[in-house]
Amino acid sequence: MIENLYKIPNHVAIIMDGNGRWAKRRGLQRIEGHREGTKAVERTIKFARNVGIKYLTLFAFSTENWQRPPEEVNAIMSLLVEYINQKIPLLIENDVRLLFMGRKEKLWDSVLKAMEKGENETARCKSMTTIITLNYSGRAEIVDTVNKILKSGKKEITEEEFKKFMYRPEIPEPDLLIRTSGEKRISNFLLWQLAYTELYFTDTLWPDFDEDEFLKALYDYQSRERRFGKVLDE
Ligand code: FPP
Repeated sequence: MIENLYKIPNHVAIIMDGNGRWAKRRGLQRIEGHREGTKAVERTIKFARNVGIKYLTLFAFSTENWQRPPEEVNAIMSLLVEYINQKIPLLIENDVRLLFMGRKEKLWDSVLKAMEKGENETARCKSMTTIITLNYSGRAEIVDTVNKILKSGKKEITEEEFKKFMYRPEIPEPDLLIRTSGEKRISNFLLWQLAYTELYFTDTLWPDFDEDEFLKALYDYQSRERRFGKVLDE
């Protein structure tokens, strides 16, 4: 199945969109779409690890998502706790480290506990790092970063120094961003980090995202010429 796959992106970030529409099309509750979405999360982590991607960032819950109906927010939070606790052994078996990124405020205690447990128990895994962004937005990260800088007493700063104050300065910037479900927006995801990232959009809804869909995105990425603002030699 995996033929001619080369130039593997080091870091892939994904906006997992379309769970609600997937459920609606089947006459199901939106949460059933999120539940099905967790199966796509598992497939995606395994596949990414197996093709040699080193960092995979998944947009699970944004700072704006609190505005959804409380039943849906509660259901997503419960699903996250259940999912993280249940999948830790599988992550360890696959040598995948788990990290979280986002504002801790407003998150339930049970979510915070599951996050801590997930990070601690997978801390030694080295084959791939999966970063789950929870209560995250790009603008919130930039504002939090600026506030940290102000507290440090600095009056002027370079881009390189700015980066060191961000949530996860050790994580390299994404090479490829995938967004499912046909929307062509960044939606306040990794605003700073996406500056030179290749963007890939697919109409496939997140619960239907599988290995073949991921491969299509990787083949597309292979054909891109990344110039980072420079002129490349002939
Ligand atoms: C977007 O679909 C999806 C979300 C806001 C939640 C994503 C959560 C999961 C995939 C489940 C848990 C995640 C992990 C990492 C275990 P949408 O509800 O915006 O869909 P719509 O645009 O069709 O309404």
